[in-house]
Amino acid sequence: KSLLQGNRDLAGKRVLVTAAGTREPIDPVRYIGNHSSGKMGYALAEAAAARGAEVILVSGPSSLACPAGITVTKVETAAQMREAVLAEFDTVDVVIKAAAVADYRPETAADQKIKKTGNTLTLSMIKNPDILRELGERKKHQLLIGFAAETQELLSHAQEKLIKKNLDMIVANDVTLPGAGFNTDTNIVRVIHKNGQIEELPQLTKRQVAEILIDKICVMLTNYT
Ligand code: CTP
Ligand code: CA
Repeated sequence: KSLLQGNRDLAGKRVLVTAAGTREPIDPVRYIGNHSSGKMGYALAEAAAARGAEVILVSGPSSLACPAGITVTKVETAAQMREAVLAEFDTVDVVIKAAAVADYRPETAADQKIKKTGNTLTLSMIKNPDILRELGERKKHQLLIGFAAETQELLSHAQEKLIKKNLDMIVANDVTLPGAGFNTDTNIVRVIHKNGQIEELPQLTKRQVAEILIDKICVMLTNYT
């Protein structure tokens, strides 16, 4: 609808979107990753750009084509994503963190390919920085939108994240539902606002979900500024 109407209500706004999953190296040929495809984040970047925003997309590895007219910074690890996000944070109006960031990384990445010597292999993992939580601590004028990927207790877990990370809105995603979550073209989400209001959306394409989320962000921007 907004495309047909040529609605450019995000003109003059800078929107930072993170997308896809991070890869944490084990050795020169292997990594710890996750099933995130980047589809939700890329759809958000495209929807924001179509509404006139200047979009900065920070993306983990993804097979999706870089959307036209959008600045894409490609990263691999959570640490690199953090650097890229922090470099832009002060100058953006909105951050949407759709990326699936690895919570832990191998404590050390081996210099050489690990050989299959023993019958078992134990990796020692160390916690990655929580990028979104850090943004929540630093935020001034920025709107912060998070995602919550859950397999149980969707609403309570998502609500906890909204509060802990000082978010304005969180998009709760039950990744076990058919037609939702990783690497699907559709999604089924609940949107939780910081005032506690909860909205349930039906199964929609990721682009449709993105349009609805961008609508909500526009309303928040008008109300806050
Ligand atoms: N996130 C982040 N940095 C991390 C981990 C997560 O910025 N190191 C962001 C994600 O991009 C997402 C939100 O935090 O927007 C929630 O991610 P999720 O994995 O659902 O929650 P976690 O806080 O990591 O908690 P857990 O995985 O234990 O449920
Ligand atoms: Ca996590």
